[in-house]
Amino acid sequence: LPAVPLPSDPLAALRQARRDPDLVLIEGFHALKHALRFGAEILRAAITDPEEVRKLAEALAPDIVERLPAGTPVVSPERMQAAGLKAPITGVLAVAHRPAMDVHAALADPRPAPVVLLERPRGLGNIGWCVRTAAAADIAGLLTTGIHDPWCPTAVRIGVGLQFALPVARVANAGSSVLPHGLLDCDRPLVAVDTRGETVHPRELPPRAILAFGTERHGLSEELLARAHASVSLPMRPGVSSLNLATSVAALLYAWRLAGGAGGEGGR
Ligand SMILES: C[S@@+](CC[C@H](N)C(=O)[O-])C[C@H]1O[C@@H](n2cnc3c(N)ncnc32)[C@H](O)[C@@H]1O
Repeated sequence: LPAVPLPSDPLAALRQARRDPDLVLIEGFHALKHALRFGAEILRAAITDPEEVRKLAEALAPDIVERLPAGTPVVSPERMQAAGLKAPITGVLAVAHRPAMDVHAALADPRPAPVVLLERPRGLGNIGWCVRTAAAADIAGLLTTGIHDPWCPTAVRIGVGLQFALPVARVANAGSSVLPHGLLDCDRPLVAVDTRGETVHPRELPPRAILAFGTERHGLSEELLARAHASVSLPMRPGVSSLNLATSVAALLYAWRLAGGAGGEGGR
């Protein structure tokens, strides 16, 4: 249960969810759709136009129509705004429990699927896009280091609620190391994804790798590069410095998947 009791007033509860690490603020229909599909427990919700949301669900996601929170209070966009909340275009906001995350269990996942590590990502948009791709590619988890919480409202909105679909967590550094707890002693090979690495051959990626991506401006830390078992790059035309972080995650995960990773399409 949240450390601070959740107010019964939905707008107060939604405001609390923005800051409470035990809660997740879900903004918009598409994020709510994924949250419901992947088992989120919705605690409070507010909606600007229930008929519109039902129509959207019937058209785009009939599987969740019966799971939409019943008796959700109808609140005008103006009241939401007055309460310091911005109504999304689809007019639905919700609060869910933040699922407990067992990083060791995610790292121990025996499937031949990688874990993505984002080292100190700066952009919440990038984090959200990476979560969306990681969920679609069906990898074992996505971990971040640094100041940003991958479950913050912006990352959840941009990740369209797919944080609920796989283990996603921010992990603390191990002592003076820039690497997180758990990664130093786990049995997964660490692969640096770096512009200076060897051109990647997706079929040759080790099956349960930790694929580490660097921060937007400076790339991977020297410590991570030194500890990595291999360093791979995505080929680029001469003159281009790098791909965007989320683009490189998408390109590599889909190269892996299409090459047959996790029994993906290319392996069939
Ligand atoms: C915007 S880039 C960082 C650019 C930084 N100046 C550098 O050269 O590493 C952010 C991250 O995306 C990944 N990345 C971008 N383009 C890449 C490429 N062509 N090959 C491998 N990784 C790439 C790397 O993990 C990189 O640390």
